Amino acid sequence: MTYSELLKLLESLVKVPCVIAPLGTTHNHLVYVALAEGELSLWSLNLKTKVKRRLVSGVRLTSIAEPNPKSRFVVYTIDISKGRELSRVYAIDIISGKVLDIGSNIEPGRVMGIAFDGEKVALSLSYKDKVSLILLRLDGVFEELHRTDKVIFVSSLNEDLIAGYGVLKGNPRAFELFFYDLRTSEFKVYTPRDGTYNVNPLLHGRRALFETNAFGKKDLYIYDYDSSKIVKPSYSSSDYKYYEATDVGAYNWLRDGRIGFILKSKGRARLFIDGSLVKLPEGNLRFLGIGDNEVYVSHESLSRPPRVFKVDLRTLNYEVMIDNELPKEINEKIGTVRYVEYSSFDGLRIPTYVIESRATSKPGPTIIYVHGGPWAEVADSWDVLIASLVISGFHVVAPNFRGSTGYGEEFRVLDIGDPGGADLIDIVKAREWAIKSGLASKVAIMGYSYGGFMTYLALTKYPDLWDAGVAGAGITDWEEMYELSDEVFKRFIEILFTNKKELLKDRSTIFYADKIKAPLCIIHPQNDSRTPLKPVLKFVNKLLELNKRFEVHIIPDMGHLITTSEDLINILWPAIVFLKKNLR
Ligand code: 4NP
Repeated sequence: MTYSELLKLLESLVKVPCVIAPLGTTHNHLVYVALAEGELSLWSLNLKTKVKRRLVSGVRLTSIAEPNPKSRFVVYTIDISKGRELSRVYAIDIISGKVLDIGSNIEPGRVMGIAFDGEKVALSLSYKDKVSLILLRLDGVFEELHRTDKVIFVSSLNEDLIAGYGVLKGNPRAFELFFYDLRTSEFKVYTPRDGTYNVNPLLHGRRALFETNAFGKKDLYIYDYDSSKIVKPSYSSSDYKYYEATDVGAYNWLRDGRIGFILKSKGRARLFIDGSLVKLPEGNLRFLGIGDNEVYVSHESLSRPPRVFKVDLRTLNYEVMIDNELPKEINEKIGTVRYVEYSSFDGLRIPTYVIESRATSKPGPTIIYVHGGPWAEVADSWDVLIASLVISGFHVVAPNFRGSTGYGEEFRVLDIGDPGGADLIDIVKAREWAIKSGLASKVAIMGYSYGGFMTYLALTKYPDLWDAGVAGAGITDWEEMYELSDEVFKRFIEILFTNKKELLKDRSTIFYADKIKAPLCIIHPQNDSRTPLKPVLKFVNKLLELNKRFEVHIIPDMGHLITTSEDLINILWPAIVFLKKNLR
């Protein structure tokens, strides 16, 4: 393929909607978020006429509250800082399209969760030196209810009660729930058992459905706020018991008070309604939107971009509501997708997705793709970064190194206190697997954010293993990044490193730049406020002094989040050209 053919292919790829997330219905419209027609936007689908409408455009969307059937308004936030994630709250009438600027009196901040009960909005915002819990009315009147230095995510609001979760007791391996009672102005922290994982409480009345591992494997429980009692939900079917889940996915209350939930297993998922299995095709189910008599679920895989199915709650039959097809010239280049496991240095099995390219030979040039997070995963879900590599003629190996989500809480916490340590060895073992299995000839490492951090560290700590590296929005100096971070990201770094100050230096590539051997491609958004550019520029200076082989691509008017097709091209095109040159 020539560069012009490749660029054409990439442009065709980024036109394919890569995110479609159903959020729920209100006033006969399905509200969803999609990265389609060039940008991440809020959309509605009129359920009577089937007409789709883009509700906002030309902005960077940062969060959306679940629609509430009591209101025609949908509440969302947009970045007003060219990608720095300082956001402002708006509401839109999904029928008339009228926008209300309801958050103009609130100092813009990083949104850490937002909920809407049809009349009021609750949100948590992170600032340079505080985190605020805020209540906002549609007329623009707001109140700061609570101020903290802790990580708090708002997840639900119902009349007099706000529910959310966070790291509230200082244990880096635990999450607790919190409740703010608007009647008494009381902020209450709740955990069924100290040191356990408790997240995402969703209110129905004053009962909160949440995910916990306090009683063994992760499961859903209900906490009754008024009686302080905790119960296991009872379902009318026990289908779900026969599914060997490795994790819990999305869940919510149905409008009749029953529960719908998704169980995950090795990157794929199943939907259960009141305990009954819904017979959907194999793939991953990520987003669950609730309707009056139906639910909407996104369905996707590594070789198929997301579609939305509507599931009838009486029959549990499904139909396609929002379709999405790959152009032939892209589809024909995506080869076999496999789930594999290999053993790491200590015997830990590493769940991994392997995506073969039909645009190269076998063995062929291979990318070890390191996901961000680090508390995230590469599931059998559409991933436009991975797809771009595959169609460009690279096989991709995407390990879910220790610390990844989707494989239980014990696995997730394995990186806490040791980021860039054992998890990095898991990555090194992925390279070994790729070569031994006959997949890889030359091998590069590539990742964005935490994946960019791991790329830098892999090239410095294991310099002889790589033919090239691509670090997007990476981390080169944890100490300087800490100083530049807002309140929530300071806590994030403390949690990740369990406050081991000396480890910050050991895991910062800037101190080992002399070790690098492989050519390095650095891609970084100029306005990134999670992994700031400033320390990376110092690292670049070091590379220059040391006469290393590198290239740097700084993307203006962009922050950490990839929200437009242009962002995608700006990141992917330099990476692909670099990899083509260096893995030849
Ligand atoms: P992510 O980026 O991979 O996009 O989540 C990160 C940003 C900050 C930190 C880690 C990862 N941190 O530890 O502060």
